[in-house]
Amino acid sequence: MKPVEVVKNVYWVGVVDWNIRNFHGYTYTTKRGTTYNAYLIIDEKIALVDTVYGPFSDELIKNIKTLIEPEKIDYIITNHVETDHSGALSEIVKLSKNAKIVGTAKCKEGLSRYYYDLSLDEKFQIVKTGDRISLGKKTLQFIEAPMIHWPDSMFTYVPEDKLLLPNDAFGQHYATSERFDDEVNQYELMEEAKKYYANILIPFSSIIAKKIDQLISSGIEINMIAPSHGIIWRKEPKKIIDAYIKWANNYELKNKVLIVYETMWGATEKMAKAILEGVKDNGVEVKLYDITVSDRTEIITELLDAKGLIVGSSTHDNNILPTIAGFLDFVKGLKIKNRYGAAFGSYGWSGESVKIVEEILRLSGIEIIVPSISIKYMPSEEDIKLCYTFGENFVKKILAG
Ligand code: FEO
Repeated sequence: MKPVEVVKNVYWVGVVDWNIRNFHGYTYTTKRGTTYNAYLIIDEKIALVDTVYGPFSDELIKNIKTLIEPEKIDYIITNHVETDHSGALSEIVKLSKNAKIVGTAKCKEGLSRYYYDLSLDEKFQIVKTGDRISLGKKTLQFIEAPMIHWPDSMFTYVPEDKLLLPNDAFGQHYATSERFDDEVNQYELMEEAKKYYANILIPFSSIIAKKIDQLISSGIEINMIAPSHGIIWRKEPKKIIDAYIKWANNYELKNKVLIVYETMWGATEKMAKAILEGVKDNGVEVKLYDITVSDRTEIITELLDAKGLIVGSSTHDNNILPTIAGFLDFVKGLKIKNRYGAAFGSYGWSGESVKIVEEILRLSGIEIIVPSISIKYMPSEEDIKLCYTFGENFVKKILAG
């Protein structure tokens, strides 16, 4: 798509990746595609803020060429090493031979291990929080943002425009023909912003909460947030800042329970459905997922505001089943806080699954609040009642606080 002027002399020159359906390998499903946003700031000096994913280098260069000759670029600001933003760097550097590459010390270190063709010792300018580069009328001011979400991450701020370019933060995997928040469907926008936070940023929540506090107390004025994925927050930047404050501090947590399971011959599934009834009959919202046919990215998004996670697996080879194992491994990596859990599952003879599930939930930081329930072969009517009671007891513990 063609460049779009974001504010006077600041242009979106990124690309829209309409067809990507799996991001970060297979860690994140992107049903609405994504964008890789790069911004060109034209002043007495010219700066390109971030590039795009490598396969889209030509499209980025074509966009830049509609505005200026790439050789005129003085600075390439690399807010983040990850290749969806730095992937076109080598191609740009070939055309912008005199440009300085600007980023944090960690960024230089990271880029040196991704792009062996770049002469970073000659070209790279390390910046820290508070450092500034004057482009003429506009200034670039840098704010280090380590672990939001990589060690190298940085925000760039243009004070004259009150424009924040925070790279991944406040982004969404959302491919649209429009570029601004006031031009798109608000439900879709917030759904994608929430999904992005849940699947990428949850592990860094305490760092994010602190960084937002720092930004607010520094008195920085923000009229617009232009992230590196999705739409630009032009009309309501406060909307996404407020949402991040809520998500990072778990202010949106509610009495909601997710039941996620994998079953071999249907016994664990019968248990799951009986547990669901026990939860529901106590007035709490509950959602049920067979992990083998569900989208993990969507489940993790639901977990952002759910207090309860009940996980079930049949026992197989003295272990849990493989798809639920993958789900639990992902949950473990989230280092999620303030959640309650429990385990259930069927077995034939040894019955290890529930203990294994419990252990992984504990390692994930989830508090086990009711003893697990394990049923031999297919649940009887009596067993189904026990599962119902298990669901009731789980909810009562949550409601008790
Ligand atoms: Fe969009 Fe951390 O890369």
